[in-house]
Amino acid sequence: MRKLCDVILFSCFLLLLTFVDVEADCEGGLFAVNSTYSENLNSLFSSLASNVIANNGFYNTSTGEGSNKVYGLALCGRGYPKQACVNCVEQAIQESQQRCPNRMKSFRWTTRDSDNASCLIRYANHSVSAKLELFPPTLSDNPLIIEEPKSLKLFRREWEALTNLTMQSATSAPENSSVVLKFYSVVRAEFTEFANVYMMMQCTPDILSSECNKCLSQCVLNFQNNNWGSQGGAGRLPSCYFRWDLYPICGSSENMTRVSMISRAITLPQGDTVSQPENDNKGKRIRNGTIAIIVVPTVINLFVFVGLFIIFDQRRKAYNKNINECFDSDGQSMLRFSIGMILSATDDFSPENKLGQGGFGTVYKGILPNGQEIAVKRLASGSGQGDTEFKNEVSLLTRLQHKNLVKLLGFCHEGEEEILVYELVPNSSLDHFIFGESL
Ligand SMILES: *[C@@H]1O[C@H](CO)[C@@H](O)[C@H](O)[C@H]1NC(C)=O
Ligand SMILES: *[C@@H]1O[C@H](CO)[C@@H](O)[C@H](O)[C@H]1NC(C)=O
Ligand SMILES: *[C@@H]1O[C@H](CO)[C@@H](O)[C@H](O)[C@H]1NC(C)=O
Ligand SMILES: *[C@@H]1O[C@H](CO)[C@@H](O)[C@H](O)[C@H]1NC(C)=O
Ligand SMILES: *[C@@H]1O[C@H](CO)[C@@H](O)[C@H](O)[C@H]1NC(C)=O
Ligand SMILES: *[C@@H]1O[C@H](CO)[C@@H](O)[C@H](O)[C@H]1NC(C)=O
Ligand SMILES: *[C@@H]1O[C@H](CO)[C@@H](O)[C@H](O)[C@H]1NC(C)=O
Repeated sequence: MRKLCDVILFSCFLLLLTFVDVEADCEGGLFAVNSTYSENLNSLFSSLASNVIANNGFYNTSTGEGSNKVYGLALCGRGYPKQACVNCVEQAIQESQQRCPNRMKSFRWTTRDSDNASCLIRYANHSVSAKLELFPPTLSDNPLIIEEPKSLKLFRREWEALTNLTMQSATSAPENSSVVLKFYSVVRAEFTEFANVYMMMQCTPDILSSECNKCLSQCVLNFQNNNWGSQGGAGRLPSCYFRWDLYPICGSSENMTRVSMISRAITLPQGDTVSQPENDNKGKRIRNGTIAIIVVPTVINLFVFVGLFIIFDQRRKAYNKNINECFDSDGQSMLRFSIGMILSATDDFSPENKLGQGGFGTVYKGILPNGQEIAVKRLASGSGQGDTEFKNEVSLLTRLQHKNLVKLLGFCHEGEEEILVYELVPNSSLDHFIFGESL
């Protein structure tokens, strides 16, 4: 028994060691302070920054001979002044020397938010160029976490979709592309609960696009396994860099792909009801500067049945008697209103109560018996949807609602009538009600 405990303790210790080791970006043996290797490395360092900018952002080199030969490479991100690149590379060298003194091998991705710059330096006693390296990983995260009432589950769906999109964009350069910084992508996305999510991915250009993909996937996975729940973070490997945040990264607002993840993530669990060009067409390149606003709200489905207005008929008068019928549907906090209640609230859809009219129907102002003011959207009918389908759509709408937008109180579905009932917000744009943009 005692032995078993010792074994378990020892294993934990080993695990801890592994974890600590994984956090470090220093590797290889130690070299002596005034050794030839040390001189070669210093000489490599001294020329790195100027050579990177002279070579459009990526440079690989080697100095020395035999076992003292030092191989190195450096890379600068895209889209900022040369001096920022020089500053960044010099800072990375300095950090490397402080963190990994006298180590033969190291890599360091550095970001300088003050210059909007990011860069990589890497060196070893073996060739580092054209070689995918997936070890050691390093990670960092924002100490703030995503808290309730934000849904981490919804966030994960949108976040994963965004990583796929960014990765696809970062690795879409053709194999023979001569662009120096070809494996690079920055995307700004709109999530359901976060207006701006920024993601950046970059690989060194000396590897294959499939290797870049592998490297970035590993970075993303490392982040998910270790820092999931943080409001931002980064994952690094010798061959690639991944970062995401809720604020702009490296000032890369220029040439940034802008996408909306909202519809994408919401349609995911229900299968493809909406065409998603980016997902369907794997090879499609999202070009720099493309504004890819993908506005395909599922809820449009709800309004697809735009048809002719039905003509008032006498039948409705009869419902007038059921004025106070109103009950909870499906145990949700949403109400099902009787047509009588709606007619009473809107004074039989009187023209005086009409707030506006749009393609999807007409909106009326109304007052419930309890005094609450409502906006009633009377959908243009003709869909012939079953009660269950309409209820499902409405329940989907309720889940889609954003807290800053107009609140959906309930619905009414009787005969041909399909009606949505909203809270009436004074001074709120009528368009919310009329055109369904709030959905
Ligand atoms: C690099 O250094 C390590 C010791 O840190 C040594 O085992 C290895 O053989 C060296 N590689 C080359 C190519 O010299
Ligand atoms: C390394 O060389 C410098 C001068 O070249 C000397 O001052 C220093 O003492 C040396 N360090 C060691 C550890 O030999
Ligand atoms: C840089 O890498 C390429 C491809 O691996 C190699 O052919 C070239 O010699 C390297 N350049 C230097 C200066 O080492
Ligand atoms: C943005 O795109 C334009 C043209 O596509 C290009 O000339 C410019 O260098 C790009 N800027 C960055 C920062 O990539
Ligand atoms: C992302 O891509 C992976 C592999 O290509 C796929 O399995 C996964 O479903 C995708 N996730 C999302 C959210 O699109
Ligand atoms: C890259 O390859 C494609 C065909 O595979 C060819 O059409 C294109 O001209 C090549 N580009 C360069 C820069 O060599
Ligand atoms: C960095 O980017 C931000 C936002 O794009 C910009 O306001 C700022 O001036 C940039 N800083 C530098 C030093 O270029």
